[in-house]
Amino acid sequence: MAVRKVVRMGHPVLRQPARPLEPHEIGSEPVRRLLADMIDTLHDYGGIGLAAPQVAESVRLAIIEIPGGPTRYGDIPVMPLTAFINPAIEVVDHATQGYWEGCLSLPGLRGFVERPQHVKVRYTNEAGGSDELELEGFLATVFQHEFDHLDGKLYVDRITDSTLLSFEEEYLRYLAPREAPNADL
Ligand code: NI
Repeated sequence: MAVRKVVRMGHPVLRQPARPLEPHEIGSEPVRRLLADMIDTLHDYGGIGLAAPQVAESVRLAIIEIPGGPTRYGDIPVMPLTAFINPAIEVVDHATQGYWEGCLSLPGLRGFVERPQHVKVRYTNEAGGSDELELEGFLATVFQHEFDHLDGKLYVDRITDSTLLSFEEEYLRYLAPREAPNADL
C-alpha cells in the first residue's frame, strides 16, 4: 500500500474517459493494489471521494467515504468506505440543488454546482457482485462529482455562474453558507 500523487487539473488523464474494468480484473492483484493505494491516498489527502483517474489510472473505479453529521442541508448520512466499479448513474428526479464543491485535483478552490438531487447508482462491488444505491441531496451530488471523473469531466465544467468559483480562503471568508460541508470530493 502506498499514498499516490493526486494529479491536478491540466493533467490529460483527468480529461480522458476511463475504461471499464473487465470481470477478470476485479479482485485481481493489480486492482486490489490500486484500490488499497487509493484508500491510503484518500486518507492522506483528507477527501471524501477519489476516482482512479485522479491517481493517473484511467479505469472506472472510485471510492467514497463520508463521515456524516449535521449540516445546514440536513443530517448527511454516513457512507462507510465503499468501492464503486463500472458505475452507471440514472437521474430519478431532475430537480437540482447547488452545493459548493471542492476536488483534490483542484486544490484550494471551491465552486458552486447545481446537480439533480435524486439519483440511482448501479455498480459492481469489490467482490464482483452487482449492487445498487439510491441517493438524495448532498450524497447525490457527491456521487455525480465522483463518477464525472470517470468520464473526463471536472466540476468546473458544470459551474453555470463563473462568479461562483473561488479560492477556498475567500470562499470561507465571504461565501460559505454556515455549516456547509467543506470537503474535497
Ligand atoms: Ni473530484
